[in-house]
Amino acid sequence: MLTRAKFIFSIALLIPLPGISAESARPIPRIERAGNQYRFLVDGRPFLMLGGQAHNSSASRAEDLEPFWKSLVGIHANTAEVPLYWELIEPQPGKFDFHLIDEIVAGARRNGLRLVFLWFGTWKNGDMDYTPEWLKRDPATYRRVIDARGSEMWIISPLCEAAREADARAFRAVMEHIRSIDESDRTVIMVQVENETGLLGTDRDYSEEATRLYRGAVPADLMVYLSKNRDSLSASFNAAWASTNFRASGTWTEVFGELAAEAFSAWHVARYVDVVAAAGKQAYPLPLYVNNWLVEGSATRAGNWPSGGPTVHVLDIWKAAAPHIDALAPDIYYPKFFDVAAQFTRPDNPLFVPETDPVPYFAANALLTFAYFNGFGFSPFGIDDFVENGAVTPRAAEFEDIYRMLRPLLTLIARYQYTGKLHPLLQGVAQGEDWAYAVRLGNKLAAGVEFTVKYDPEKARGRGLIVEMGPDDFVVAGSGFKVNFVELEGPPRDAQFLTIEEGTFEGERWVSTRRLNGDELHVELPEQSRILRVRLLR
Ligand code: DGJ
Repeated sequence: MLTRAKFIFSIALLIPLPGISAESARPIPRIERAGNQYRFLVDGRPFLMLGGQAHNSSASRAEDLEPFWKSLVGIHANTAEVPLYWELIEPQPGKFDFHLIDEIVAGARRNGLRLVFLWFGTWKNGDMDYTPEWLKRDPATYRRVIDARGSEMWIISPLCEAAREADARAFRAVMEHIRSIDESDRTVIMVQVENETGLLGTDRDYSEEATRLYRGAVPADLMVYLSKNRDSLSASFNAAWASTNFRASGTWTEVFGELAAEAFSAWHVARYVDVVAAAGKQAYPLPLYVNNWLVEGSATRAGNWPSGGPTVHVLDIWKAAAPHIDALAPDIYYPKFFDVAAQFTRPDNPLFVPETDPVPYFAANALLTFAYFNGFGFSPFGIDDFVENGAVTPRAAEFEDIYRMLRPLLTLIARYQYTGKLHPLLQGVAQGEDWAYAVRLGNKLAAGVEFTVKYDPEKARGRGLIVEMGPDDFVVAGSGFKVNFVELEGPPRDAQFLTIEEGTFEGERWVSTRRLNGDELHVELPEQSRILRVRLLR
């Protein structure tokens, strides 16, 4: 029984005390680094983001986002990525209109989703489409990049201080506003600064000022950073620098050889973006990232991709120039997902895939992102029409199936990242792995995985994962494959099953829904993804 004093004390705990702000209730989201391991903490706990991004023009009227919210809920996503447009937020210099931010945050809350805002500011896909009209009309103040033929381009020069200050002022105002409406709820968990930065159509700015800097010395602080980090540079950057025998000083061409123009652009774009990011972080220090238009397909030289964006060639320059950016994130529309993810997973960079192709082939890459690369987020682009007439479309079925399977497993996956106990299974991830492969487990066991669907990159793909919960205790989830647990010592044989159960997780607690035995005593997962708990008797 409660004594009177205890009762009064308990009631007092429910009333917010003056001096304890709402802010302290939920800690601010942050990316925590411990050694080479990263965790994205939301409400103080590791968070894995099953995302989806809206089309570029879906957020200029909040009601246009309705199909997008439905799509996210329909595929069991937990996070929405939605653009914010500088041109609409600051229609006149210094006059801000935040009503879209308020309505989008309300929409996300109504649908039980977290939010990542995308700041479409100075850069959008390597040009300046989202800058405000007043800025577009005033190229004398807001200077443009000049191309190699001397023509003005549709890109703000990364050397233009006036544009940089205007962007930083607007971004700061946006972050201040987000803080003012969301500090106690933390619906907004991260913000993308700019969109696919860099100069599309030229390798560098050829204005007089830029050319003078290009012919001058590489800044000493960049050289110091590179010398310190010489053992961990990206392969292509290392090769370029090696071509000049790792010259420690000189002009951009003398130091970086063929990569000089892209390196020069990267330094100036990254420094510009860092000023914008720092202004935003000062107002509300949420995690910030930049996304990247990859070097892909038949692109041959900088300018085919936006030169100076955080491509694999210049990740190290971005790390040196933009310390306020928490992650350099690849937009992976490229079939070689694995290779790109590997390039962006580094001791100094966690993997986050903010955009990927919304076609079935790419859906299972969520498993690689979380269970192989220890990444914290994955998000198909332009998913507004994943649900039509209340039903998930066939195009979205793979995302729906995989997200539905992953949702209850997220706490467990987050807990086992970086332990070597997560084993994604993915048909066709490498040549020759489209019918079977073996996974080495601990405790003298291996898993023989055989895919039971015909590999078709357009549609079906066997996929899932094994989590080693204990020496003889496994979670096997997914579809389109079967697994044998094989003893690696003694006579060749399969391990004896003790129990197989079908079920789900609530946090880290296993909830069994069905016990399998007799004809069903094997680990086979057909079309629809399921979660099994398998225990062996050794
Ligand atoms: C990548 C960009 O970042 C997105 O905003 C969008 O334009 C897509 N490309 C379209 O494929």
